[in-house]
Amino acid sequence: MKTLKASGVGKAIDRVEGHLKVTGMAKYASEFPIENKVYAQAINSTIAKGEITSIDTSEAEKLKGVLKVITYKNAEKLKTFDKERPAIATDTIAPVLQDNKIHYYGEYVGLVVAETFEIAQHAARLVKYTYKKFSDPAIRFDELKSKAYKPNDKSDYSRGDVDKGLAEADISIDSVYTTPIEHHHPMELHAIIASWENGKVTAYASQQMVEDATIAISDTFQIPQENVRVIASYVGGGFGSKLNVERHAILGVMASKMIGSPVQITVTRNQMFTNTGLRQFNEQRMKIGAKNDGTLTALAHETISHTSTNMEFQEQCGMVTKMLYKVPNNKVTHRLIPMNLQTPFAMRAPGEATGSFALESVIDEMAWKLKMDPIEFRIKNDTQTDLSKDQPFSSRLLVECLRIGAEKFGWENRKQEPRTNTNGNWLIGYGVSAASRNSPYQKTHSKVILDAENGKVQATIQMDATDIGTGSYTIIAQTASEYLGIPVENINVELGDSDFPVTPGSGGSWGAASYCNGARAACEIAVSELKKKQNIAEEEEVSIAELLKKNNLTNYEAKGMAEPSEEFKKHSVFSFGANFSEVWVDKDTGMWKIKRMVNVGSAGRILNPKTAYGQIIGGLTMGAGMAIAEQTRVEPNFGNFITRSFADYHVPVNLDLANIDVIFLPEEDKIANKMGIKGIGELGITSVAGSIANAIFNATGKRMRDLPITPEKLI
Ligand code: MOS
Repeated sequence: MKTLKASGVGKAIDRVEGHLKVTGMAKYASEFPIENKVYAQAINSTIAKGEITSIDTSEAEKLKGVLKVITYKNAEKLKTFDKERPAIATDTIAPVLQDNKIHYYGEYVGLVVAETFEIAQHAARLVKYTYKKFSDPAIRFDELKSKAYKPNDKSDYSRGDVDKGLAEADISIDSVYTTPIEHHHPMELHAIIASWENGKVTAYASQQMVEDATIAISDTFQIPQENVRVIASYVGGGFGSKLNVERHAILGVMASKMIGSPVQITVTRNQMFTNTGLRQFNEQRMKIGAKNDGTLTALAHETISHTSTNMEFQEQCGMVTKMLYKVPNNKVTHRLIPMNLQTPFAMRAPGEATGSFALESVIDEMAWKLKMDPIEFRIKNDTQTDLSKDQPFSSRLLVECLRIGAEKFGWENRKQEPRTNTNGNWLIGYGVSAASRNSPYQKTHSKVILDAENGKVQATIQMDATDIGTGSYTIIAQTASEYLGIPVENINVELGDSDFPVTPGSGGSWGAASYCNGARAACEIAVSELKKKQNIAEEEEVSIAELLKKNNLTNYEAKGMAEPSEEFKKHSVFSFGANFSEVWVDKDTGMWKIKRMVNVGSAGRILNPKTAYGQIIGGLTMGAGMAIAEQTRVEPNFGNFITRSFADYHVPVNLDLANIDVIFLPEEDKIANKMGIKGIGELGITSVAGSIANAIFNATGKRMRDLPITPEKLI
């Protein structure tokens, strides 16, 4: 169908919801002024493994303003897992307070509901628990490696014969990389205001996927899904931690059911370490072989990481290694150790962010051993076929990203030999890495409501999509503007309510493509139906105002749906990128800094350069954080985290990343979807740590295989 003149997509407009955010009018989960709401504070266990033997709630219950103390003894019965260690997904049930067992330090063991947040917090400290502590908590990774198991059939992959490929190689490398536990820490704390009324739940909750949240809540309470409404109008970041329903949300619903008023729970920053997921520690062993001319002959990626003792999560570190380079012999394995730590879950680019550090480091090391330029080595082993699926990429401009980035960055000034580019006490290094990230696109529904007054048309788009700080409101408005041919100012976007048409929510880099194609579909259907009623040919250009007028209508509604095509399914749809970093390392102290970064991305049609830059800059910052500072340390005897606040869990600040250049290659991937959109939410973080570690090698001659790269490792 021919569309009317574009008036929105592709323009770097300011965020349509920006003023609501900066004036405090955009409401986040805990900000809804619900009448009669009360507050609850969850209580955390102080052992990693064992059982509760007694609980004394009398002091807390005596406190004025305390409404209820909930423990496993009086909690509502919930659905529990019907098998040992089930896999965690975005719609998994979240049973809590169902027995006296403790699986990890910080697990919720109770909830105090009170008239105010302060009373609830105070009373929570007055509840006394005694525990039977088991003597063998699984909290020391190194001692548990023999317990690593193969999680499921999909955890291993191979093509060709890696041993044969290694035997054919002129040069081979076998090395191990580690990445620490990390935490998501979105700015907005996890929160819920839950109301249970006549068997129906309304929840204002900070969730990335509202549809799946309704499934998880209804399943946990064994009530029909249509009895649960989840509202997430604005979400202050998620990074994966809000994909699923965490247990505080279930506690909120349970408490509301038990006391008969709406209950608000805001997870504290401290609890964001123990109760809202984490990226687990990974030990990745890479084996690589190449001929003297730079042809790759073998590549293996073996990962050992941990899950909890009660649930299973597997980060696919080897995913990038399967598909990025043309290598005939390839093997990927993942093994898990059940540990007494909370269940890990997806964190921005789960698999790629960590896997690409190992892969792009070992690729760089191989280039060095071959005495080849690392960009030329990558280009020599480029492929337009996804060998792991034996199907073509819908589009892959990785070589162009590398070449254009090299020019922009000034790669020709790089010295191949470490410690030869200096400035006073500083050793200067240049590093590069390739990035790839799957661009899934999923079935999405939306509704458009048109209102005409005096020839001026206003349109409202409704969908249960979320905006987790990414710019969903803005790009959806731009899409509707383009397909209805009216200004962005006349578009009203309403999101984050499970009563609206179903979308896949925000995650996995599928948001933009799914949401915008869904909104496009509704707009196209509205235009098409209005034309059909008047026997106007599809290709004839008539304004939406004129169409309504011809139909003698002042308002009109249409629903649309978009989903992956057959062509999409026959291709591997990925976004690609290249990262360039310049680092300066003090040769005496090991103190180092990132001087500048250049990122070139090929990610399909860029809907709004401003919001897209924001996504990539955010990703680069998080990727740099992996290299600079981010790590959660586990206390090896008690299983608590040593790093439990922003005072000791460090993230990069502006001074760390002052100079970033982001470039998008012009691209429209029509195989990916009708609008040519691919994903960018997770592309930006991927392989950044690799490019920095490679730059540090170029500066110092030291290969950094363990993140973060703290200065003492460079002395
Ligand atoms: Mo992402 S880790 O799917 O929010």
